[in-house]
Amino acid sequence: MDDDGKPGRLRTLEDVDFRGRRVLLRADLNVPLTADGAVADASRIDATLPTLRRLLDADCAVVLASHLGRPKGRVVPALSLAPVAQVLSQRLGRPVPLAPGVTGPEVAARVRALGPGEVLLLENLRFDPREEKDDPAFAAELAQGLDLLVDDAFGAVHRAHASVHALAGVLESVAGLLVAREVEMLSRLLGQVERPYAVVLGGAKVADKLGMVATLGERADRLIVGGGMANTFLLARGGRMGRSLVEPDRAADARALMERLGERLLLPVDLVVGSAPDDPEPRVVGADAVPDDAMALDIGPQTRGRFAAALAESRTVFWNGPMGVFERPAYRAGTQAVAAAVAAVPGLSVVGGGDSVAALHAAGVASRIGHVSTGGGASLEFLEGRDLPGLRVLGYRPPGAR
Ligand code: 3PG
Repeated sequence: MDDDGKPGRLRTLEDVDFRGRRVLLRADLNVPLTADGAVADASRIDATLPTLRRLLDADCAVVLASHLGRPKGRVVPALSLAPVAQVLSQRLGRPVPLAPGVTGPEVAARVRALGPGEVLLLENLRFDPREEKDDPAFAAELAQGLDLLVDDAFGAVHRAHASVHALAGVLESVAGLLVAREVEMLSRLLGQVERPYAVVLGGAKVADKLGMVATLGERADRLIVGGGMANTFLLARGGRMGRSLVEPDRAADARALMERLGERLLLPVDLVVGSAPDDPEPRVVGADAVPDDAMALDIGPQTRGRFAAALAESRTVFWNGPMGVFERPAYRAGTQAVAAAVAAVPGLSVVGGGDSVAALHAAGVASRIGHVSTGGGASLEFLEGRDLPGLRVLGYRPPGAR
């Protein structure tokens, strides 16, 4: 909290005179790529365009920067931002040149030469090991020749990395339009929500998310858990899970959580199983009876009905994580049913996480969602009420933070 005891307010573009400034625009251009290296889904690029256009229209010189994938501090050509530069050029209707690296003399010369209304895309920030180390010397190099940081990378605000954290110690810094909208919309779920409020969680890993399951579960009237995440709960209840993905070392935590949440927690009652994700012959079994040679790959038809019914009674919903291996047609029905039910919720609906968002698009219901967040981990950590490093440096503190 600020000294006056109120949660800190996010500094935004409205708080600075950015006309004609030399800006580093940090975006989250971490898009999925196809096997042959093209951009598979441009949602995150499109989400960055309003801020980019606003800055270019105001005669700013814009150095655009992002990470892509996890190259772990090495130059991995397959994770170059070149395909992103191509899509950006198409969207803006003019060339978006890609710098020959992240920092260094050649890049610095290109930055210096950048005029008002011009844009240069830096190479993948994570090609330099100093990015993930939050290295202040790297931040100082990124800042050279620039005088304002506009952070629009909502998907990365939970990372204490140089371009979203240390750099704010070097340059004046504000949130871009996307970060401001994400904070505004997700904050609604932290305040007074219209009830019943349902939270739907899926995806693979319990270990990463158990703390968040607990926090969100406390706030929600209904916590609906499916996908790989449900398996550990089903195991903890004594179910036979066959070869399903489970995390036995988290079973005790899952059991404690089940006791705490009681009937508010909804788990699958049946599952669609196969011998492997590419098994084209799915079978439906009880949620506690996965055969030894099979694994859970989707929620079953009865579960789909129960989850949809619980959502039909809800007035507010947050959804993150698929109900199964939805990339495979045989195991997609559960995730699609949840996508349709979430879209039909009459009040505020918020969906975060790449897979859930892809499922919304596949089901053709994305336009009926109140807010589609570009953040996966970031939106979850935000909703946990955590004080996130990339937002803290922009002045924002969550309600109740110390
Ligand atoms: C995301 O895809 O959620 C963001 O781009 C952050 O990526 P990271 O999990 O690799 O830090």
